[in-house]
Amino acid sequence: MTKNKCLNLCLFVLLVISPKCLYAGAPSTRIDSLVSVMTLDEKLGQMTQMCFSTITLDGSKSLDLNVENFRDAIQRYHVGSFLSGSDNYEKWFAFITAIQKLAVEETRLKIPLIIGIDHVHGANYINEGTIFPHNLMLACSFNSAMAQNVARVTAIETAPVGLSWNFAPVLDVGKNPYWPRLYETFGEDPYLCATMGKAYIQAYENCPEIAPAKLSACAKHFIGYSDPKYGYDRSPSEIPMQALWEYFVPPFKTAFDGGVKTVMINSGELNGEAVHGSKFLLDTLLRQRLGFKGVAVTDIKDIERLVMMHHTNETQKEGTFRAIDAGIDMYMACNAYDFIRYVKELMAERRLSEQRIDASVKRILQLKFDLGLFDNPYPSRELLSKVNKEKNQDISQLVAEESIVLLKNENLLPLLGTKKIALAGIGANSKKMMNGPWSYDWMGASEELQPATMKTLYTAMANEFGAKHVNLLSAEGINTDKERRKFICQAKKSDLIVLAVGEKPYSEFMGNINDLTLDQDQLNLMDAAIETGKPVVIVLMEGRPRLFTQQASKVSAILFAGYPGTRGAEAITNILSGKVNPSGKLAFTYPFSAGHVIPYYYKPSEFNIYWREDKTQKNLFPFGHGLSYTQFEYTDLQLSDTLINNSSQTITATVKVKNIGSVDGQEAVLWYISDEIGTITRPNKLLKHAEKALIPVGEQKTFTFTIRPQDLAYPDKNGVQILENGKFKVSVGGLVKEFNFKK
Ligand code: BGC
Repeated sequence: MTKNKCLNLCLFVLLVISPKCLYAGAPSTRIDSLVSVMTLDEKLGQMTQMCFSTITLDGSKSLDLNVENFRDAIQRYHVGSFLSGSDNYEKWFAFITAIQKLAVEETRLKIPLIIGIDHVHGANYINEGTIFPHNLMLACSFNSAMAQNVARVTAIETAPVGLSWNFAPVLDVGKNPYWPRLYETFGEDPYLCATMGKAYIQAYENCPEIAPAKLSACAKHFIGYSDPKYGYDRSPSEIPMQALWEYFVPPFKTAFDGGVKTVMINSGELNGEAVHGSKFLLDTLLRQRLGFKGVAVTDIKDIERLVMMHHTNETQKEGTFRAIDAGIDMYMACNAYDFIRYVKELMAERRLSEQRIDASVKRILQLKFDLGLFDNPYPSRELLSKVNKEKNQDISQLVAEESIVLLKNENLLPLLGTKKIALAGIGANSKKMMNGPWSYDWMGASEELQPATMKTLYTAMANEFGAKHVNLLSAEGINTDKERRKFICQAKKSDLIVLAVGEKPYSEFMGNINDLTLDQDQLNLMDAAIETGKPVVIVLMEGRPRLFTQQASKVSAILFAGYPGTRGAEAITNILSGKVNPSGKLAFTYPFSAGHVIPYYYKPSEFNIYWREDKTQKNLFPFGHGLSYTQFEYTDLQLSDTLINNSSQTITATVKVKNIGSVDGQEAVLWYISDEIGTITRPNKLLKHAEKALIPVGEQKTFTFTIRPQDLAYPDKNGVQILENGKFKVSVGGLVKEFNFKK
């Protein structure tokens, strides 16, 4: 017997007698001793993540355990992680208690499982979970406290059932509105994505209310996923390295600097490389340049994609080699165990070393230690008893109310005095449209499976304005002249028409489209409403800006509500009635035409410069646009100096904002910097600071932005920050001031 084997045997004996002994001591020592007694199979099991559908009775996401399949997974394949599932609290509780018990009691090393879930907008896979607006809408609040609220409540509702790993938040910059996952992002601005992401991660990973339980967030999807050239999900992106550093890296860098525990890899291709197989992206960039130290999990079945979709490898074994060599730690294999066999073959061929495998296994075990799973892997009755659904839903409503954006209002809203309202459209009487996708089901649960207590827009409006004043019309769209005439005849009986239009929920590739324009039936519905001559309010319930440019100019009011969540109906209604003064601003550009998509930071063309005529930067509503029921006046932009003359100095910019209207209101003050002269061309302007505050009627508040040298720097194509002497501009609320930087 070799010395190593003898040592392992001794440790094993020790472990059998007293497993706790082995896990005693400093975490790194505990991990080293654990790894030293693990067989290769046990190590590869830790690197494998399977879907719950492989261990449930009917292979669905409902949580009825197939014990035989599960024992196979943990005893034969030594699987260390699972994901997915959707059920109620009690089922989750019982299921996770049962599988952790088996994992801890019936495996040699008693290593607890780590269980992942996509709680991307609240505890959206627990039947009674509170659903929040999706990230795109959350970003429209321009209030990082709202992201903290969402993360906190999600943690409070998720932790009790033992789900310790959340595949959220999405930190991809939502630059391409064709991409069907736009609503999962915090919009098109890197600063906003970084700020909201950081707030979310910190609140999620350090939530005091769930102590001693701990949770991990997951920064996803690294990197370059969100700007595919032709807009389809998982289709190739081409992003120059300078642009990657400038726009796409910052949210991830901020998350890594803040210590996010895990990252998920982009399923797509970037600059000709499948990201899952790119040593440059996963090792040089992720680990070495950005200093990420945690667990890198693949996206679902992405080694298969290397073969089937990216064609970078002929066989899965070669794909496996490529992904591990590139730097992944855990394979989200989902429903097949081949990965384990391939790695073993690759190791036998000496193409992958045990040292490489150990590095990943140690990171995974470290995560399990950090989350306290070795001490207590079980769901907690105590935490469950503390979940206050009503309170959490109140918070969801608050978030929705801060996120909804009033895009247009020609003296119509708020609706004061009793009015007869005709209500129609796909979102008029649907809970599914409120919660949107990733709600109890990947594509959003069917109407009858949505929470019984939830209101639809119709029930909320009937409650607010009186049932006899709200007339629900069945039209979801108009296809024939007969339908048009019928709608006009019914709608004319009311004083105004509210149309809830947009997109039925979709997820990932299911939302691929070829045209941003809304479908003809919904445009016809808007046209018919306009034809009545009554004022028309459009409520947009959609995951990305769908276009209705002609109609937009003819209706009286437009609200962007996105998918506003469990209490979305109340939030929209409160804005319509004026109980709540809207304060959201667009976190993305609303394009004017479908073929012309321009994020706000793109430079105008020469038309603007020579002819001063804006032919290129045309959008329906710009980034940062959002109306209120009051007016805010910006005055007196002041700079403490007009020169920053060494790299440690700062300038303080202040601006006065006064509420000159007749109701109290919240205002998000957005500060931009423009670099006037740059060795490489610089963006039009970039958001560098945002602050939101309540300003009561007649009052004035001074807002401050401390401009630091790093706010003036930009990355070159190697990610090196360049700070050049020269002229800069700071702008806020339409006011502009110039200053200089000199080293
Ligand atoms: C998505 C990820 C998600 C994963 C697990 C994938 O299809 O791209 O965002 O976390 O599924 O459900």
